[in-house]
Amino acid sequence: MKRIKLDFADFKVEFCDREGALKQVEEFARRGTRFPVVVFGPEGCGKTSWLRQAAEVLKEREFGVIYFNPMRREFLAEVGIKSLEERVLELLKRADSVHALAGFVGYVVDFARDALKHGKKRIAIIVDDAFQYVGGKEAAFFVKGLLEIIEHPPESYERIVAIAATSEGLSRWEIGRHLWTELRGMWNMSKKGFEELYERVREGVLGSMPDYEDTWATTGGNPRVLAQLYQVKWSVDLVIERLAGSKKLDLFTSSLTSEERKYLLEAIEDPDTLLARERTSLLNKLVEMNLVVDAMPERRQEHWIDEPPPQKDLKLGVGRRMAWQTPLHREAVRRALEHL
Ligand SMILES: Nc1ncnc2c1ncn2[C@@H]1O[C@H](COP(=O)(O)OP(=O)(O)OP(=O)(O)O)[C@@H](O)[C@H]1O
Ligand SMILES: [Mg+2]
Repeated sequence: MKRIKLDFADFKVEFCDREGALKQVEEFARRGTRFPVVVFGPEGCGKTSWLRQAAEVLKEREFGVIYFNPMRREFLAEVGIKSLEERVLELLKRADSVHALAGFVGYVVDFARDALKHGKKRIAIIVDDAFQYVGGKEAAFFVKGLLEIIEHPPESYERIVAIAATSEGLSRWEIGRHLWTELRGMWNMSKKGFEELYERVREGVLGSMPDYEDTWATTGGNPRVLAQLYQVKWSVDLVIERLAGSKKLDLFTSSLTSEERKYLLEAIEDPDTLLARERTSLLNKLVEMNLVVDAMPERRQEHWIDEPPPQKDLKLGVGRRMAWQTPLHREAVRRALEHL
């Protein structure tokens, strides 16, 4: 299998690890997806990278691939039908912003339908980073459209694989509350897999690098956090300050009631404490700001892409039902509370 090259800070790194997730792609290729698979997970955990690698795997298995990622300004319909490919190019030309391109998500369903009508028998539909731009209802409507193709195709087919990824946040609920999807979590990399990436990065680093255990404790296995640390020569403080700035954490903590601050302090120790009626509004804010992932599924392989996170690991901020996206997200919130 050809491994794709990914931009990692200022150099390229080969897609590494995620063996379990790649096996799952093989399984999808063998059996198709009965429901569209919707994948959610922490920012920067590797959803886009995995989906891009999945597209390669599926092409090798002779799938025509329709790939849509407005964030990367990519819309591909590699289905061997020239007229369709031209229509995609036309849409790309017409979209003058990420937002405008995201609005074309509905065409993905149309193109998949057309590919089937042209006699294509194996189709993979991969949609990434589109839902944050379209409303929750529209996202749900789109996913329903995918299901319609699987269940009521215009022509018979061999296999359809439909996968969409969404950043963790409230949009997940709009999509997930319907019975039209198979919702799956994807977590940061496993300790072993992340070590492989760490070693690759180390090969490209000239100066010294913090040791692996420290890096694991700071990042919790999140590859983007590792890239950010690399970029600032391993200054954890700088990465935390940037994160706090981009999420306006000072504003957030100062807007909380004294009661909510107390809850937040407890959540820093154990995120599962957020699971209480009077803490719901705080929890929703943390989810909306992409700091915490709520309603973590049971750690059964079937609910996850790749390895599930640990059942509970309070050092990393992972609770049974709630989890900080990374230890660094938690640390940024802790510091913002201290600043008050
Ligand atoms: N399997 C991997 N091997 C090597 N590097 C990886 C891998 N997964 C992710 N990365 C690195 O981490 C970065 C972030 O990953 P990616 O963009 O896939 O995350 P994401 O979950 O899609 O994030 P977002 O929630 O913001 O969409 C990538 O640009 C890449 O540098
Ligand atoms: Mg992404």
